[in-house]
Amino acid sequence: MQTVTEAPVVRVGVLGCGTVGAALVHLLVEKPEVMTERTGLRLEVARVAVRNLARERGVAIPDGALTDDLHGVVTDPDVDVIVEVIGGIEPARTLILEALAAGKPVITANKDLVAVAGVELVEAAVAAGVDLLFEASVGGGIPLIRPLRESLAGEQIRRIMGIVNGTTNYVLTRMTEAGASYGDALGEAQALGFAESDPTSDVEGFDAANKAAILASIAFGVKVVTADVYREGISCVTAADIAFATRLGYVIKLLAIAERVGDEVAVRVHPAMIPATHPLASVRESFNAVFIEGEAVGDLMLYGRGAGGGPSASAVLGDLIDASHNLRAGGMGRASALGQAQIRSIDELTSQYYLSIDVEDRPGVLAAVAGAFGDHGVSIRSMEQDPLATEARLIFITHLARESDIQATIAVLRELEVVDRIGSLLRVVGEG
Ligand SMILES: NC(=O)c1ccc[n+]([C@@H]2O[C@H](COP(=O)([O-])OP(=O)(O)OC[C@H]3O[C@@H](n4cnc5c(N)ncnc54)[C@H](OP(=O)(O)O)[C@@H]3O)[C@@H](O)[C@H]2O)c1
Repeated sequence: MQTVTEAPVVRVGVLGCGTVGAALVHLLVEKPEVMTERTGLRLEVARVAVRNLARERGVAIPDGALTDDLHGVVTDPDVDVIVEVIGGIEPARTLILEALAAGKPVITANKDLVAVAGVELVEAAVAAGVDLLFEASVGGGIPLIRPLRESLAGEQIRRIMGIVNGTTNYVLTRMTEAGASYGDALGEAQALGFAESDPTSDVEGFDAANKAAILASIAFGVKVVTADVYREGISCVTAADIAFATRLGYVIKLLAIAERVGDEVAVRVHPAMIPATHPLASVRESFNAVFIEGEAVGDLMLYGRGAGGGPSASAVLGDLIDASHNLRAGGMGRASALGQAQIRSIDELTSQYYLSIDVEDRPGVLAAVAGAFGDHGVSIRSMEQDPLATEARLIFITHLARESDIQATIAVLRELEVVDRIGSLLRVVGEG
């Protein structure tokens, strides 16, 4: 067995020592002998860059390693591998490009950056012949990218559906299980630290859209960026929608969905009704899960903590060990160039829909409303009047329909005198 002192040394430069960075440093300095036993490498924390040198980090950073010079860490000849956990687009992007150009592998947890500039960064890594790994950027501690890239490399993946944002899953779980309103559930999530004081990125689906873009790129081997992802958040979901869904045997979840349709790739994030029997329906609170449908493998679900210092640092560490082995071997892991994606418009989506409509309580209303559906070829599977609503509220579930037809139906409904308000539109997903 190799002892700590005999094992080859890999010197790690860590950019950022916040939630993820501090948890990573802790894993690296805590039991170096165990790490060496398992990996055959001695991973040394050489430099740690932060903004505020005076802040208490709660972790034993090696003497002399702490600095506020990010650039100096990247260019330090005594640093072999860079871990970027500062977040944001700049200076992270420039620092990563500099590190790659200098032949240093980079590990990042930065989903915002990978989702917008991943193609540029991957191309730079391939050109430099070193690794750029980003397992923690989707699903925190859940291994997703490596299984997709390696274990499922030969698989024809048809569709991926993920609960990839813990904040929204927590809010929807509280609305479902405690009957809480959206506002109360969000307030509770904020009090518990599951939601930011400005929750926009989570509740409006921006964070999930970043992750959807990354997952789609890896699963289908094509260039997908956040701008390609159709996005809706959960702020429009009401307690009444949840109660109705529950009564009908569904659960409402914010889903990131990436699917291959012929030569095209469709990527979208929106709240959806899924059958209560679907594996994703049992993913509660702030947990994440990704459900993969493959030709040969069938259905597969990966589940776990999608965020948090420990889980994310665990994913970063796995990447770090991989990149260090590849560096010692003088190369990089598998990284294929991404092809061009033909993005399928949301208008082309075929789905069942749930639509709630507040109407005037008088004769002839139903005929007028049903006529709007019929005029656009949207066939109604069920219609009920919500018994709990104070106003006259009609709840429709359609048979399979095209998104463009349902949107055209809604445009007509909005203009009808008897319609007071169009409520939620939810897509029904995961049946059959
Ligand atoms: N937190 C999670 O659960 C999680 C999960 C998955 C992925 N991620 C991703 O991981 C990355 C880091 O997240 P985090 O939660 O660890 O962030 P964080 O707690 O805010 O920590 C960021 C760290 O970067 C340092 N930093 C930021 N800008 C800097 C600058 N211009 N110069 C020098 N240092 C700078 C900060 O220094 P100071 O401490 O001195 O301010 C801090 O140590 C993000 O990309 C995030 O999206 C996070």
